[in-house]
Amino acid sequence: MGRLIIVSNRVPSPRERSQPAGGLAVGLKDALREGESLWFGWSGKQVQLHGGDPVPRLDRVDNVTYATIDLTPLQYEGFYQNFSNGILWPLFHYRVGLMNYSRTDWKTYLAVNAMFARTLLPLLKPDDTIWVHDYHLFPLGQALRDLGVKCRIGFFLHIPFPPWSLVRSLPGADLLLEDMQSYDLIGVQTPEDAENLNHSLQANGLAARGQAFPIGIDPDEFRAQAEKSMKGPEVERLEGSLRGAKLVLGVDRLDYSKGLPERFRGYEALLARYPEHRGKVTFLQVAPISRGSVEEYRQLRRQLDELTGRINGAYSEFDWTPIRYITRPLAREVLAGFYRRAEAALITPLRDGMNLVAKEYVAAQNPANPGVLILSHFAGAAPEMDEGILVNPYDPDEIADALHAALTMGLAERRTRWQALEQEVSSTTAISWAADFLRALDAAPVAGRS
Ligand code: ADP
Ligand code: F6P
Repeated sequence: MGRLIIVSNRVPSPRERSQPAGGLAVGLKDALREGESLWFGWSGKQVQLHGGDPVPRLDRVDNVTYATIDLTPLQYEGFYQNFSNGILWPLFHYRVGLMNYSRTDWKTYLAVNAMFARTLLPLLKPDDTIWVHDYHLFPLGQALRDLGVKCRIGFFLHIPFPPWSLVRSLPGADLLLEDMQSYDLIGVQTPEDAENLNHSLQANGLAARGQAFPIGIDPDEFRAQAEKSMKGPEVERLEGSLRGAKLVLGVDRLDYSKGLPERFRGYEALLARYPEHRGKVTFLQVAPISRGSVEEYRQLRRQLDELTGRINGAYSEFDWTPIRYITRPLAREVLAGFYRRAEAALITPLRDGMNLVAKEYVAAQNPANPGVLILSHFAGAAPEMDEGILVNPYDPDEIADALHAALTMGLAERRTRWQALEQEVSSTTAISWAADFLRALDAAPVAGRS
């Protein structure tokens, strides 16, 4: 059997305990337990190069060889910061108005994809299967085909795929879709994304190759981590500091797609409309800074600083603070225990590809006394997780009502809802997701290649 070659912009460092927050790195790492594989992508570093392509650095851990390259500061800016995160990210999260298009960045995006293809090429063998991930690398398959690569190549998009009426606002969207014909199979998170993608392809006279493969987590590992973490010093400290208050937890990268200001306003509405919860509930939002050099992300940070200050100023007592807000990541082990301790998870993205935090929260619960998941209709996970309380994140009063319902829900209803959610989380895991995708890729027709 040939090797599996994973290509993604972000590659988790195999030797560091703390990993960057983000569903792609977490989901794939969980999926790569078996077989021989190579994971190729950006090192996360910027280095000035004087001519020529970077040379991949190789590091082998267990069955995975990690091959990473640095970007130059200009590539980082044009490819990662501006085109991927300043243009594709807002557009694919249905926020066309936030898209800052520039032709120069488009050229850098294509050039970096071509450079990825050239530097990956010498590491490839004819019987490899290549699996390219996410929006940073839409054109990579075609760039590899242009260099003569005949292996099977699949693509998976971790973020939503919006309708063609939005996608077409991107100048060159038709060219990106044409490049995607180089993939033998294109996976997306939900049936709605698959429908939008296939419609976009067909609107451009191209073959519909999109199929939904919802990503999952490793629930057993997460559950074990949560149980262990409950006995650790951090959960003990958290418990002590809460002094009997119920805990509502939010965990997200600090990203405007996550609906954080809307969430804070929803919590504020809870305190305003249901005063019985004042002093008896604490909202802990952990939101590590992400893409901090992109202006929209800086603005969001300022907005949240202001909102937190305002709400805490209005409702705090000398011995109680309603919102605790942390902009640093937490270690996964600690996070797992915090999920288990929390009476409710408040997950309200305005759009999200999947949202693994929702699945982690469910996996971490104590079956005898589970907490309640409050989830936005607009998370990719919502159709699978409708036993949680689903909310429209744009309505603060709906969030407040959901929080009140969660904080007052009886044990029997919490258990019934959680059992259904837990079954769902256990049936589609990171491992089954990868296996399903790769099986379908293996079976996909390889039209026109000898
Ligand atoms: P995205 O891919 O948009 O970041 P997901 O919810 O799918 O969103 O995945 C986020 C992943 O990153 C999860 O595995 C989550 O545990 C991790 N993560 C998110 N926020 C934090 C945090 N504050 N500290 C540690 N890990 C985090
Ligand atoms: O899962 C969506 C995603 O965009 C990944 O592609 C990415 O690695 C992650 O979120 C975190 O973002 P970044 O790599 O820009 O820090």
